[in-house]
Amino acid sequence: MSREEPLLAQRQSSERSSIRYAEEEDALLTGEATGRREEPRRGWRFWREIGMFAWALIATILVIVLAVVYQHEASKSQHQPKDSWGPGDKPTGKRNLIFMVSDGMGPTSLSLTRSFRQYTEGLPIDDTLVLDKHHIGQSRTRSSNSLVTDSAAGATAFSCGYKSYNGAISVLPDHSPCGTVLEAAALAGYKTGLVVTTRLTDATPACFASHANLRQYEDSIAQQEVGEHPLGRVVDLMMGGGRCHFLANSTEGSCRGDDRDLVDLASKNGFHYLQNRTAFDALNGGTEVKLPLLGLFADKDIPYEVDRRHQNDVYPSLEEMTRTALTALSDATRDSDQGFFVMIEGSRIDHAGHGNDPAAQVHEVLAYDKAFAAVLDFLEKDSTPGVVVSTSDHETGGLAAARQLHKSYPDYLWYPRVLANAKHSSEYAGNKLNAYTSGEGKDKGNKEKAAYIRDTILKQDLGIVDASDEEIESLIKPDVSTQYVFADMISRRAQIGWSTHGHSAADVNIYASSAKNAWPLTGNHENIEVGNFLADYLDLDVGAVTKRLQSSAYWTTDAEESPDLEKYSWMGDPLGSDVRVDGLDTYHHDFRKRSLTDCGCGGLH
Ligand SMILES: *[C@@H]1O[C@H](CO)[C@@H](O)[C@H](O)[C@H]1NC(C)=O
Ligand SMILES: *[C@@H]1O[C@H](CO)[C@@H](O)[C@H](O)[C@H]1NC(C)=O
Ligand SMILES: [Zn+2]
Ligand SMILES: [Zn+2]
Repeated sequence: MSREEPLLAQRQSSERSSIRYAEEEDALLTGEATGRREEPRRGWRFWREIGMFAWALIATILVIVLAVVYQHEASKSQHQPKDSWGPGDKPTGKRNLIFMVSDGMGPTSLSLTRSFRQYTEGLPIDDTLVLDKHHIGQSRTRSSNSLVTDSAAGATAFSCGYKSYNGAISVLPDHSPCGTVLEAAALAGYKTGLVVTTRLTDATPACFASHANLRQYEDSIAQQEVGEHPLGRVVDLMMGGGRCHFLANSTEGSCRGDDRDLVDLASKNGFHYLQNRTAFDALNGGTEVKLPLLGLFADKDIPYEVDRRHQNDVYPSLEEMTRTALTALSDATRDSDQGFFVMIEGSRIDHAGHGNDPAAQVHEVLAYDKAFAAVLDFLEKDSTPGVVVSTSDHETGGLAAARQLHKSYPDYLWYPRVLANAKHSSEYAGNKLNAYTSGEGKDKGNKEKAAYIRDTILKQDLGIVDASDEEIESLIKPDVSTQYVFADMISRRAQIGWSTHGHSAADVNIYASSAKNAWPLTGNHENIEVGNFLADYLDLDVGAVTKRLQSSAYWTTDAEESPDLEKYSWMGDPLGSDVRVDGLDTYHHDFRKRSLTDCGCGGLH
């Protein structure tokens, strides 16, 4: 539960004590008051009352003082594992923990996807997603410095159990590192894994296996993930995209700033390296995996599911990676006293939200739902007990399953058919148009360009046959990225609304294999309580890892009196001192400043 839970519990009990004492005081005073009228003499009863009252007062003060001292101590130390476990049955012996993150998936994404599936598959109106059957609660997502979190602060809440600032990769607001549940699990003898559909160096996976003052330090994050980490190698299995940060800048497809070859470093640290579908298939669903394993299946992102399904021979799906990882980790721990911890992320639900692409999003959510079902399937069959908890770091896009297109009052509806007609994502369509404009279509006239856009992209890829001349014009001479124009064309036709290309502050859902096993997360919680649950479930002392990471052994400078920023410079340059790391921003009259045509595309997720 919350890091402050013990203190709340304490405060409650002290309140309860005070109330009890107050009741006793009342009883004594009122009870004796009637007697006093009859007995005006100040006898031993009077002095006994005074004594009792004084004792009650002192005891109350003592309890309050103790509570305050305890609170102070508790606020300095990380959440401690609880000795007792509540309603459900936490296994006492070997166990596995699967944590799933649906990045950027808010409650409306579920409504959208559920209705989409009912429509496309002709299912009854009470047909639900697998996730729907396992809903147990909600998470509140704000970060230390904003009501709207980013994925870095969101994942730090999960990995460390602490609120931090947007951009923080398992770093606290004072720029000191905080131990993560994955690190603690590795040190305790668990096998560990990370499975994602975006870059393995992106914020969510990064927060479990590395520390950086800013999420942009992906080169450093990659180094830490393959073992150049204060605690040594902490991850046993990694699958996803983001190959470019592991390749030297002299190699094609690299996005590193330096010429370090991290594939080579990974091999030196024992990793078996895979870079394509052929090698993935040879893992035979996980039975042929040799840990540690580094599987990088795309330079950056694995394509959206809506596009990937047409290239199934090139990229594995999230479900396939999930099944393979679970089999591999289960096999690797068969004869061990400890099980495994794995974080599995549906990374690109968030990207579809950023792109305001509802067609791409429903396919991402369906792929995530399948991966969740695969995890349930594994838990049911595996002999080691375990639990899966799934939640989102935040909502993305301010998605609305309704949209008013005109000044006139709207009809109550949205059209799933429009999403079903799209065979590809707006990202795919945007890239295709860019390739055409800079290649084959470079010297073509507007009429030919328009024909290409209408027939070869809108009709063929997005299922749109009623584009207006204005829309075609905005694709030939775009103000914003053409991907956004395509997504907006789909959204308007489907009557799906978006309030932002960024994140929103909506509460997000929590799902689990069993509400009994994940009982501390039923109801509405802060995101750090999810992180605390992860550590509690495996009886991990994450605070001890924090202490170790903060110990002088890893200080970059020797001087005891160095400011924290220098001690921990291995985590990269900290934010400037003028940047807020906690508290809320003040109102800036922003609505006046931004021009409506200022794209601001390609920001951080
Ligand atoms: C590649 O990295 C090296 C340092 O490792 C640097 O000197 C060089 O400028 C980089 N080259 C490019 C093209 O970025
Ligand atoms: C897949 O990767 C292996 C090496 O890991 C390589 O030998 C093989 O040619 C690659 N296959 C394809 C289709 O790229
Ligand atoms: Zn996110
Ligand atoms: Zn995002």
